[in-house]
Amino acid sequence: MQTIQVLGRTFDIFIQEDKILSMVKTLAESINQDYAGKPVVFVAVLNGSFMLASDLMKQINLACRIEFIKTSSYAGTQSTGSIKELIGLKGDITGHHVVIIEDIIDTGLTIDYIINLLQEKNPESIEVCSLLLKPEALQVDLKPKYIGFEVENKFLLGYGLDYDGFGRNLKHIYVEKS
Ligand code: IMP
Ligand code: MG
Repeated sequence: MQTIQVLGRTFDIFIQEDKILSMVKTLAESINQDYAGKPVVFVAVLNGSFMLASDLMKQINLACRIEFIKTSSYAGTQSTGSIKELIGLKGDITGHHVVIIEDIIDTGLTIDYIINLLQEKNPESIEVCSLLLKPEALQVDLKPKYIGFEVENKFLLGYGLDYDGFGRNLKHIYVEKS
C-alpha cells in the first residue's frame, strides 16, 4: 500500500519496513559496542516507541533492563507543547547508564523533560536513541547520540507513530501528503 487514508487525511509511504529494520539493527550495534560490560537501563517512552523498543531490544545483547514511561504532548497533527508525565519510572537507575528510546524528536520538549526527570535520579549517564529527528522543529539544545533518520518537518505516521490514536500498527512509516 503506497498511499493510505487515515481519519480523512492522505499519507504516502515514506520509509519502508526493511529500511526501518536495518536502521534499527545499526542503532543496536552501536549501542552494543558502546555499552559492552556496562549496566544499562533502557527507558522506552510510550506509546510511540513501542515498536522501536521491541525491535531494538531484540538486537541488544547486553545484560540490561527496560522500563516504560508515558507522557502526552500531542493532539492531532501539531505539538501542543504541554507535557505531562502519566506513568513514572519504577526501577532504580542510580549508577546505571540510561538509554532513552523515543520514536521521534520533534520540538524536543518531551525528551528534554524526560532527561531532566531522569537526571534527578543520579544515573551514571543518559543518552537518547530516537528513530526519527526533525532538526528544523527542534526548540531545545539537544544532541541525541543515536538517531536513525533525520527528516523534514512534516507529519509522519506508522511504526508506532499515530494520528489521533490511529496508524500506530502500520509497519512502514508514512508522510502526510502536501
Ligand atoms: P516533541 O515533544 O515535540 O519532541 O514531540 C515528541 C512526541 O510527539 C513524539 O514522541 C511523538 O509521540 C509525537 N510526534 C512528534 N512528531 C510526530 C509526527 O510527525 N507524527 C506523530 N507523532 C509525532
Ligand atoms: Mg512519543
